[in-house]
Amino acid sequence: MLENKLGILNSADLAREEERISKKKAIELFESGMLNNLDAGKFSSLQAIHKYLFEDIYDFAGEIRTVNISKGNFRFAPVMYLEAALGNIDKMPQSTFDEIVEKYVEMNIAHPFREGNGRSTRIWLDLIFKKELRKVVDWSKVDKEDYLLAMERSPIRDTEIKHIIKKALTEDINSREVYMKGIDHSYYYEGYTTFKAEDL
Ligand SMILES: Nc1ncnc2c1ncn2[C@@H]1O[C@H](COP(=O)(O)OP(=O)(O)OP(=O)(O)O)[C@@H](O)[C@H]1O
Ligand SMILES: [Mg+2]
Repeated sequence: MLENKLGILNSADLAREEERISKKKAIELFESGMLNNLDAGKFSSLQAIHKYLFEDIYDFAGEIRTVNISKGNFRFAPVMYLEAALGNIDKMPQSTFDEIVEKYVEMNIAHPFREGNGRSTRIWLDLIFKKELRKVVDWSKVDKEDYLLAMERSPIRDTEIKHIIKKALTEDINSREVYMKGIDHSYYYEGYTTFKAEDL
């Protein structure tokens, strides 16, 4: 369990509060228009998103991690190479659908933060799609298991994740509901209570 600013000592309570607060912050991020001022495709914008979502919860919000982490059998970028990797990702092209997903896959491999990479990086991805293609991902059209399997496969082969995301693209780029699906924790993560926007 992660040390947090809320003084919560129990991981189920932390998960619940983390979900509630980060969703509330995600709505603010959307409503305030702050997202529009970020530089789509740069690490600095992902950092700003992560900081905003998690600053009331974790000291490490917006900060590059200082420990090595893994999920399943996959080890994300070692801390020693992380900054160099992020510099290279910044320079990756993003003018076509394929290039954008390839950049997303690399950012996932980097996994720059201690926790909360999935949610912040999906918002970051949408920002690139919105700017470059005038589209966003409607995550409600993406099956959670298919997504996770495709992300697990993505460092080796990105065809599955490209296929899944392509099918879910929408031109409904200004919908708050569509935007919020990307960070619907319950949708990507098992076992937590879900909060609807109205309840926050
Ligand atoms: N085995 C894996 N290999 C590569 N990437 C993975 C693997 N498992 C999960 N991922 C990616 O990591 C993300 C989860 O990262 P993290 O737990 O830091 O973020 P989160 O915001 O808490 O998660 P979530 O995406 O569940 O909302 C997933 O959304 C997926 O994109
Ligand atoms: Mg997580």
